[in-house]
Amino acid sequence: MLAVNGISVTYPDGNLALDSVSFAIGDNERVALIGANGAGKSTLLRAIVGLLPMSGEISVCGVKLSKQTASEIRKIIGIVFQNPDDQLFTMKVRDDIAFGPRNFGLSDEEAERLVDSALEQLNAVHLKERTPYKLSAGEKRIVGIAAILAMNPKVLLLDEPSSFQDPRSRRILIGTLRSLRQAQLVATHDLDLARSLCSRVIVLRDGRVRAEGPTDEILSDDGRLEEYGL
Ligand SMILES: Nc1ncnc2c1ncn2[C@@H]1O[C@H](COP(=O)(O)OP(=O)(O)O)[C@@H](O)[C@H]1O
Ligand SMILES: [Mg+2]
Repeated sequence: MLAVNGISVTYPDGNLALDSVSFAIGDNERVALIGANGAGKSTLLRAIVGLLPMSGEISVCGVKLSKQTASEIRKIIGIVFQNPDDQLFTMKVRDDIAFGPRNFGLSDEEAERLVDSALEQLNAVHLKERTPYKLSAGEKRIVGIAAILAMNPKVLLLDEPSSFQDPRSRRILIGTLRSLRQAQLVATHDLDLARSLCSRVIVLRDGRVRAEGPTDEILSDDGRLEEYGL
């Protein structure tokens, strides 16, 4: 479904943020990408959707990422950014969520239906008529996720989805993500989220994959977690 092959990213200031990262994610698989601050998690998610110059190869559903295929790939992969403000830009929550479906050429009625169903899935119908920039950080995050769900991507990339969430919203969010059929790559330092959502874990440290395996196995080794800065 998603194959990442030897990608390296160097930022313009010379910082090598990813160093030959490789892994693959199968259909319907949910994988946690864990690592301390600065490990390279957000950089990796951005690289996968073609937002950063990089070397190496990425393919999704058999489509290889290139300049020519970047827009096609962004229909297949939905990314929820770490900072919810990067995702919201209209004056109404419903318009933010309808933006993607309308952009795909759906009618206003069809888009509206997708807006409702995305908000229902997240228990957030009450936010529909609100103004995005006036929402709390946690509410903005939920709207950002709804906007991605409304586009029905095949793969979801989620960057710290549980940040800003109170315990109840966090439970609803985890339940929703568990119920989705999409493959998911979830960048997080919330190890409980990784445990309750993901069957497999990839550990990043200083831009390199340091460990990979079943969630129980990787997260039960306290000594190793300490070594990875978690
Ligand atoms: N725009 C940028 N320019 C230069 N360095 C950056 C930039 N964005 C992130 N970095 C650096 O790249 C490394 C990885 O960052 P990031 O991917 O945000 O890590 P994480 O999401 O795991 O906390 C860090 O050392 C960070 O300081
Ligand atoms: Mg990050």
